[in-house]
Amino acid sequence: MFSSLMGWVDARFPATKLWEEHLSKYYAPKNFNFWYFFGSLALLVLVMQIVTGIFLTMHYKPDAALAFASVEYIMRDVEWGWLIRYLHSTGASAFFIVVYLHMFRGLIYGSYKQPRELVWLFGMFLYLALMAEAFMGYLLPWGQMSFWGAQVIISLFGAIPFVGDQLALWIRGDFVVADATLNRFFAFHVIAVPLVILGLVVAHIIALHEVGSNNPDGVEIKKLKDKNGIPLDGIPFHPYYSVKDIVGVTVFLFIFSLVLFYAPEMDGWFLEHANFVPANPLKTPLHIAPVWYFTPFYAILRAVPSIAGSSFPGVVAMGLSIVFLFLLPWLDRSPVKSIRYRGIYFRTAIVLFVISFIGLGFLGTQPVTPLYTWLARIFSIIYFAFFILMPIYTKHDNDKPVPERVTFK
Ligand code: HEM
Repeated sequence: MFSSLMGWVDARFPATKLWEEHLSKYYAPKNFNFWYFFGSLALLVLVMQIVTGIFLTMHYKPDAALAFASVEYIMRDVEWGWLIRYLHSTGASAFFIVVYLHMFRGLIYGSYKQPRELVWLFGMFLYLALMAEAFMGYLLPWGQMSFWGAQVIISLFGAIPFVGDQLALWIRGDFVVADATLNRFFAFHVIAVPLVILGLVVAHIIALHEVGSNNPDGVEIKKLKDKNGIPLDGIPFHPYYSVKDIVGVTVFLFIFSLVLFYAPEMDGWFLEHANFVPANPLKTPLHIAPVWYFTPFYAILRAVPSIAGSSFPGVVAMGLSIVFLFLLPWLDRSPVKSIRYRGIYFRTAIVLFVISFIGLGFLGTQPVTPLYTWLARIFSIIYFAFFILMPIYTKHDNDKPVPERVTFK
């Protein structure tokens, strides 16, 4: 009965073809390690954010006079509302942790290199869309940090010469962050940006399956195939990796639940303390800082000195810090993909890059002091040097020979 039903469907919609192409006959390298869990975990968190978001929207009020109280109502009166809200707010931080690890995997195994440039670019657009999604979502509870964080970030557009003031006014829809801003951010957060994210995820995976996955050895498994055209070092994604990914999901849910039930606000790291005070346009908090996942870029912004009172140079530096990530596939000149076979220059550069990124992330959470400003400048220089010098140090590195086949035993 099942096969005749599938025959009927397949004559009208390529269900079996899609299943085979992307799962049961998608040959993935047999040497995936734990770094390869984070793609499926990103998918899991994306689904969780959408489902919890739908339920939050049923009770949330996108109105400057009602928003804060409606979130408190969700937390206190809606049945299981606290759980839905914490799943969503903790989920946002989990999303960035998972995506940062996912990107780092791409970095150490050279997964951005030819032929996966488009996989990387779609990923980078996803990262931008995620940042926009998180930024606009953070305004919705209409707490002090929602309001002042948005005020600071939107004002940055005001630093752009000539058009800046008009642009900031256009984004806000008012002279300060106000009800009009809340309404449009709500529209973008619940429907416009999620649609873009879903479309990009589909493009990301189609692009990946077109060229095939990279792996910890950085060996192209499609180069060596058996007489049936199946890569010698490939195994079908389903059931091998669909089952293996359950291990990743289990470990993730275990850690996620610990945070969710015991420290959902993470002492101000996931939901800042000031956001439990209703937004007050007449009272600026002493210390305004974005949530942790934005702080490396915020630190770069603050590290660059302003010129004639304009923070435009900082805004440009912050923009460039993201642009360089997009350019990675063309900055890396090494013939070797995986860090396993890279030379000392690239390995050292990665270590310095990670130190500077985490250092900037920490400094971005702290109030400005002369010492911290200088540290942020040093880390920013290292951050940019990683990219600017990359064509040189990757070209002259003492890379090791890459094996013919993957080294999994
Ligand atoms: C919503 C966010 C994202 C989702 C749901 C997602 C999903 C996935 C999935 C399911 C895979 C295949 C499994 C794996 O290799 O881990 C993958 C691979 C990949 N992703 Fe993402 N991704 C996201 C964001 C990003 C970002 C921000 C980047 C980098 C800028 C990125 C770069 C890559 C690369 C390079 C691969 C291929 C890795 C390889 O074959 O070694 N992804 N992604």
